[in-house]
Amino acid sequence: MRVLDTRLKVENLRVYYFTNRGKVRAVDDISFEINGNESIGIVGESASGKSTLGAAIIRSVNPPGRIVQGKIIVNGKNVLELTESYFNREIRWKKIAVVFQGAMNSLDPVYRISDQLQELMQEHKIKGDFEQSIYQALKDVGLDRSVANRYPHELSGGMKQRVVIAMALLLQPLLLIADEPTTALDVLVQAQIMNLLKKLKAEKNMNIVMITHDISLISEIADKIGIMYAGQIVELSSSSELLLNPKHPYTQALIKAIPKIHANYNKIHSIKGNPPDLASELKGCRFYERCPHAMDVCLHDPPLFKIKTGYVKCWLYKDSDPAE
Ligand SMILES: Nc1ncnc2c1ncn2[C@@H]1O[C@H](COP(=O)(O)OP(=O)(O)O)[C@@H](O)[C@H]1O
Ligand code: SF4
Ligand SMILES: [Mg+2]
Repeated sequence: MRVLDTRLKVENLRVYYFTNRGKVRAVDDISFEINGNESIGIVGESASGKSTLGAAIIRSVNPPGRIVQGKIIVNGKNVLELTESYFNREIRWKKIAVVFQGAMNSLDPVYRISDQLQELMQEHKIKGDFEQSIYQALKDVGLDRSVANRYPHELSGGMKQRVVIAMALLLQPLLLIADEPTTALDVLVQAQIMNLLKKLKAEKNMNIVMITHDISLISEIADKIGIMYAGQIVELSSSSELLLNPKHPYTQALIKAIPKIHANYNKIHSIKGNPPDLASELKGCRFYERCPHAMDVCLHDPPLFKIKTGYVKCWLYKDSDPAE
């Protein structure tokens, strides 16, 4: 069997925000890896810690947040051990790039698109023909070269999103973190952006960490999916296995909540209740209050149990082997 090289390995990662309400455990002991040219989808409700996880991978957690434990290994190197200046010079944008949540609204309104792309290349001391590189970057994301001369307000939401993807890809990174890249776009444009990312993933041989609250969006792009709940990954599996055969009660509820075409909207299942407050002392299974299968043992924190293509953090699978 061919062993695929590990492109990204996150090990026991914890990221906390130190607020005056207490420690907010936004990422609380997360581990996963992607190999070869795999991509992963990170899915969960709002405030489950998805953006914090994405920001940690590119060492951009905002204060009062701090990575308090763990390793982030990219191509064999723990990027958390690198100095800030080396990381900024050699890794950020060149090896790992990010499309932050809402990035298309933070394009600088007073500069033309070409100036914003050129600035990024100059900052990273990229030499060569700027004009050609900019035209190529725009072409890669399906935009006409005339977009280079426009200001952000002259572009539609879909076009702005393509521009921020072009910026992220400008220095040909190995790994792209895309945080809710289609939020605020209409359904048709959402599909176009997802198709674009799928095409780029194949053409550029790039790994993608796709973050979304919408599980229905990512089956085509993600080879595996990690389901996040209250700062933890509660199930990780290949996309097909997770979507066809979800194991964790939370994953099952998320999949049930996907609206089906022609569905009677009164019958769409929503998940009752709210996730726990991440600033409070959390004991036992974090889904306990909302889980239809909760048992006494669930008052103890469930370990990770092995399943066919990954792991699940739920006592229902206690007869399976522990996942390492
Ligand atoms: N700058 C911050 N200061 C304090 N708490 C934060 C900050 N950013 C995020 N959080 C908290 O961390 C948790 C996870 O947030 P986030 O990573 O944005 O989740 P998601 O992307 O899944 O919506 C939330 O409880 C949120 O309130
Ligand atoms: S550990 Fe218990 S409460 Fe948690 S998801 Fe599994 S069955 Fe439900
Ligand atoms: Mg987010």
